[in-house]
Amino acid sequence: MKTPLEMERKTRETGPVTWTESNGGHWLVSHADAVSEGLRDASNYSTEKFTKEDGEPGGGVMIPTVPFYRYLPNESDPPQWDVFRKSIAQHLSPASVQSLQPLLDSYVTEVIDHMIELGEADFVMQVGSPITALITLHLLGLPPTDWHFYAGPIHALFAAPETAGPGVAAIQVRLAQTIQDRKALPERGLVDDLIAQQADGKALTDDDIKDLVFDVMVGGFDTVAGLMAGAIQWLQDKPEIKQRLIEDQAFLRSANEEFLRYISPAVGLSRTATCDYTIADQEISAGDRIYFMYRSANWDPEEFESPEELDLERMPNPHVAFGSGIHRCVGSNLARAVFRTVIPEFLSRILDYEVVEFEQYRLTNNNAGFAKMIMRYTPGTKVHEEPLFDHI
Ligand code: HEM
Repeated sequence: MKTPLEMERKTRETGPVTWTESNGGHWLVSHADAVSEGLRDASNYSTEKFTKEDGEPGGGVMIPTVPFYRYLPNESDPPQWDVFRKSIAQHLSPASVQSLQPLLDSYVTEVIDHMIELGEADFVMQVGSPITALITLHLLGLPPTDWHFYAGPIHALFAAPETAGPGVAAIQVRLAQTIQDRKALPERGLVDDLIAQQADGKALTDDDIKDLVFDVMVGGFDTVAGLMAGAIQWLQDKPEIKQRLIEDQAFLRSANEEFLRYISPAVGLSRTATCDYTIADQEISAGDRIYFMYRSANWDPEEFESPEELDLERMPNPHVAFGSGIHRCVGSNLARAVFRTVIPEFLSRILDYEVVEFEQYRLTNNNAGFAKMIMRYTPGTKVHEEPLFDHI
């Protein structure tokens, strides 16, 4: 059986835009320039969900359509998208992310303190998951003590979707209740700002708020955890490169971009054409479903020399790991900040780790990452003998 990367290479070799009959039939856009071209003008496509003539759900950013909830702002079109996007973008701006840095530093130190004496740990669940969940919950203004409650089911959504249902349903209920509670007793966070925006009459329903918060969690947890796990795995037997990542900020930055390109945690997402238009000279008809293959674009040899090689000094590196067009990742500043904080600290404290067991996500057409990554290492010492936080 071909690996996903081999299938993507085959698709690229067939042409920039090809048709598949799978999942009811849809286009595959696999070349770098075709992905950018196809996503440039948002009036050509929609990400909204709808009900088809046969009563089945259609549209959205996944193929097949995920019927249960709406990822926002992802599954909305302008002009509504503008309102949704703006409502979360200011919390994820470079300045906002910069202001989170001291807390992020503390969380990283503390999470590593929790595993450093053990000698064996799962990088995904004991490092990537707590750090990404804790910082995202802080941003949202949700209790950090609840991080397991949110991170577990969201990890399952990526790692074992067939088991995720009850946990995700519980999250939906909890978020709906939290919105009511915070209307009565506001605190400080993105949730409260969304509620205040609603009170200003700016077109946010309770469901919109819930869907925006949920999308920030889904966007923010496992994508970054998967990126870091992939980088840590690749680095394990490369002491000189590890040392450079600890010491050289410029190298860390270019390595961050190259790991994004190479790993591409968001493998690909979909759109529905709203009009007849062409992508790389291929005619697309209104109503057609189109799958934009971000990882394939990032591995396109016409755009990247030797794409299958990780070149941590690759420059320029015009990857589309964060997507392209209006829905381009709104959390990219935070994703980069987390990567650039975790990787040097982890490498400088866990000196000799070896990955002894790992499991990648099984369903691979939307996300790349790890269900788990078990490593062994010589136990080290904590920075804080007494924990700074009691919720990790
Ligand atoms: C390495 C980490 C990440 C990767 C690879 C990634 C990737 C992406 C991609 C490819 C898109 C475009 C989706 C599309 O084309 O339909 C996207 C959108 C989005 N991402 Fe990220 N993401 C990451 C981290 C984050 C973080 C940390 C957050 C929030 C804290 C976040 C929140 C979102 C949201 C809300 C959207 C929807 C934006 C819109 O529709 O306007 N992501 N992300």
